[in-house]
Amino acid sequence: MHRERVLSGMQATGKLHLGNLVGALKNWVDLQNNRQNKYDCFYFVADWHALTTGYSNPIGIKESTQDLLINFIAAGLDPDKSTIFIQSQVPQHAELHLLLSMITPLGWLERVPTYKEKQEQLKDRDLSTYGFLGYPVLQTADIIIYRAKHVPVGIDQFPHLEISREITRRFNYLYKEVFPEPEGLLTEFPKVPGLDGRKMSKSYDNAIYLSDSPETVEQKIRTMMTDPARKRRTDTGDSELSPVYHLHKIFSSKEELDEIAHGCKTAGIGCIDCKKILIKNVFNYMEPIWEKRKELVNNPELLFEIACKGSEKAQIVAEETMKLVREAMGLG
Ligand code: TRP
Repeated sequence: MHRERVLSGMQATGKLHLGNLVGALKNWVDLQNNRQNKYDCFYFVADWHALTTGYSNPIGIKESTQDLLINFIAAGLDPDKSTIFIQSQVPQHAELHLLLSMITPLGWLERVPTYKEKQEQLKDRDLSTYGFLGYPVLQTADIIIYRAKHVPVGIDQFPHLEISREITRRFNYLYKEVFPEPEGLLTEFPKVPGLDGRKMSKSYDNAIYLSDSPETVEQKIRTMMTDPARKRRTDTGDSELSPVYHLHKIFSSKEELDEIAHGCKTAGIGCIDCKKILIKNVFNYMEPIWEKRKELVNNPELLFEIACKGSEKAQIVAEETMKLVREAMGLG
């Protein structure tokens, strides 16, 4: 049976939070567990990509890589079903990146919106480097080296995918039809609000991390903002104005949601009780993940073995592609 290739990765910068879990990782797991077994999934940690902005201070990349791997598996990625690997352990990515850099016009890279945006955002770093400009070229190599068809990513990655498609077309046109054009696979998922109601994000300091202890999670939810109009227990409120309610929308049942919305409007339920329900539901959701995390944190050998085996599996496919590429480019 022909299974369609799926590939996605996450950059090894910082810790994973609930927004990443609900928004991206769960989707990867669903694709892996597709009922008809339709997809052959490749998921990886992009540790080289972390260097594009973090080259001057690479301490932490290794730790982030480990933490991401732990979270991949704790969230349900299964090394027996998916190929789970680390970018830098598959050197073929670097070779393809080099070859693609030969055919990628500078103008295409300079026009990628994230290029200027990130430079603006990270003004304290010198990002006028070759590696940073080439971020999307490396990303293209990551994808097409597996001749992947589907790339499940968030909407923010779509400009990168657009240029990946252009580079792919250019390669196929100049040399030989080696690669299918990769397509973004955007899935609808609820936007996960952070503790302050803005989008959950590391940079807003409003996130619940997968590595947070249950005590920390409880503390974070307890101190969350609610509808500012409800100062006293007897004040009525509007649940829609409370970030707590927006988290309920993700973790709580329909009945609970109705009860809370009504209770808020009539002052039938207090903010503390409302938060207690949320804490209970987040705990229920997270408990299996916390369990699995604990196992893996305490067993670094197992993690190492998973990463090695996955990277070896990935290398086999990557090397097959590179043979075709070298030949197509007259290098065989
Ligand atoms: N750019 C992605 C991120 O910000 C990481 C990434 C690197 C990626 N290579 C990829 C995603 C290839 C999908 C496909 O997390």
